[in-house]
Amino acid sequence: MASAANTTGIPVTVRGLRKSFGGEPVLKGLDLEVRAGEIFALMGPSGSGKSVFLRHLIGLEKPDDGEIQVGGEAISNEGIGDRFRLAMVFQSGGLLNSLTVAENVGLYLAEHRLKPATEIERIVLEKLALVELGPEDAGKYPSELSGGMKKRVAIARALVIEPQLILFDEPTSELDPLVALTIGREILNLNQRTGATTVVVTHDRDLAFGIADRIAFLLEGEIVALGTPEEIRSHSHPLLQRFLKAEFR
Ligand SMILES: Nc1ncnc2c1ncn2[C@@H]1O[C@H](COP(=O)(O)OP(=O)(O)O)[C@@H](O)[C@H]1O
Ligand SMILES: [Mg+2]
Repeated sequence: MASAANTTGIPVTVRGLRKSFGGEPVLKGLDLEVRAGEIFALMGPSGSGKSVFLRHLIGLEKPDDGEIQVGGEAISNEGIGDRFRLAMVFQSGGLLNSLTVAENVGLYLAEHRLKPATEIERIVLEKLALVELGPEDAGKYPSELSGGMKKRVAIARALVIEPQLILFDEPTSELDPLVALTIGREILNLNQRTGATTVVVTHDRDLAFGIADRIAFLLEGEIVALGTPEEIRSHSHPLLQRFLKAEFR
């Protein structure tokens, strides 16, 4: 496993991605490129297809049509190969309540018997430190943690595999605005420290504008605007402007 400093972000290319459920089109031919190492925010209102899009990137959904390349390689029918390291931080966090923070973060390494216990302990503390959690948090159970701390633990767990592509689904949902700000700052910080390509799916405008290199606006399964935060701010699409004024979510 490469050290964090050696991690190279990998690009993502999506061409003509279509997906329907029960005859209802959800993604209507998405085209986009995420550049190696950037923070790319896919912003859009609830129900616009953001989570469905993310599930395609990790092979949890199969496109009806179109192609997805990760690190220059098409995702095959068997899903993503083992050439690249991808991690996803799910909206729910997905921590196991019966395990401590340290056990949750180290679970992957322990289950795959990848490292001796003392080495796992060292890696766990290193990843916790990256999200501003200390050794005093390692022995706690998820039920003892605030919402923001749970998110941090979920991020630390994703970092254990030293991902080259890290995907976040609504990382600030259910957090109060101040905690949401610190989570955004940590995502930015991690991107700079690890070099991992970062895709953030969110309906949180402050998050998208606060951290992204580029933003795509997804509306009813179509990307109606894509550009730098400045370009998106001055974009003429009327529904985008209403969304930015928080007239709907
Ligand atoms: N497995 C599924 N089966 C049927 N409909 C689905 C499924 N997953 C998502 N959808 C529908 O697709 C649309 C987009 O969902 P989603 O990607 O979760 O939106 P969001 O942008 O809020 O993340 C919604 O209308 C949702 O009901
Ligand atoms: Mg969603």
